[in-house]
Amino acid sequence: MRKKIVAGNWKMNKTYEEGLSLFSEVVNMVKDEVRGNQEVIVCTPFIHLSSVAKLSQDASNVKIGSQNIHQAESGAYTGEISASQVKSVGAEYTILGHSERRAYFGETDELLAEKVNAALKYDLKPIFCIGETKEERESGKFFDIIKNQLDRGVFHLSKEAFANIVLAYEPVWAIGTGLTASPEQAQEVHAFIRQAIADKYDAETAESTTILYGGSCNPSNAATLFAQQDIDGGLIGGASLKSRDFLEIVKVFN
Ligand code: G3H
Repeated sequence: MRKKIVAGNWKMNKTYEEGLSLFSEVVNMVKDEVRGNQEVIVCTPFIHLSSVAKLSQDASNVKIGSQNIHQAESGAYTGEISASQVKSVGAEYTILGHSERRAYFGETDELLAEKVNAALKYDLKPIFCIGETKEERESGKFFDIIKNQLDRGVFHLSKEAFANIVLAYEPVWAIGTGLTASPEQAQEVHAFIRQAIADKYDAETAESTTILYGGSCNPSNAATLFAQQDIDGGLIGGASLKSRDFLEIVKVFN
């Protein structure tokens, strides 16, 4: 049975103290809520990673991730953080290819493929984000856009390496806008992604890949979204900043 995941992405929010306090609340609240095939992940700003990783080791059932890494191993890249540095504090995941990184920092699929390789080399599991803009949806070409993002970002991997990838479908028009994709719209794309994985690798790989939905997911809409056959959880932005809302979303799987 494939893993069900609820992952929080705090983006560029919370001071050091605020972040520690939010993380402690989350850990306490979700401690009895995580079931066998479920995982709860919190992707914090870099400043929090080391401290929350220590807290999570004690609490054990909340995993930690970064929101980005640099593609190089080390060196003169002022202001950047490498996969091995993120791994060294105890993180297990990194978000890659978030639409905000693609749009505001010019991250291309080719660069993202390098970042995916760097993450896997250091045993960090990528949560690889794909999704179309409003214009791309309206043009009707969104399946091509998504297939292209998969082809260029992750489909260069061997089947064994791809087994470490979590995918997140995040329609850009739904991120932070309050405009959620309908469960039918999201399911349609998730089924398309799963079929693309089957075509590239095989049916077993497709069945075991966790595909998250992200974009204005909240306690009111999470249950209907997560009830869809090919939606295996969520990548949660705004609602992950409030421990109670995040808990409600985690509890959808119980
Ligand atoms: O990574 C999370 C997504 O960008 C969703 O953000 O829940 O605030 O729309 P949001």
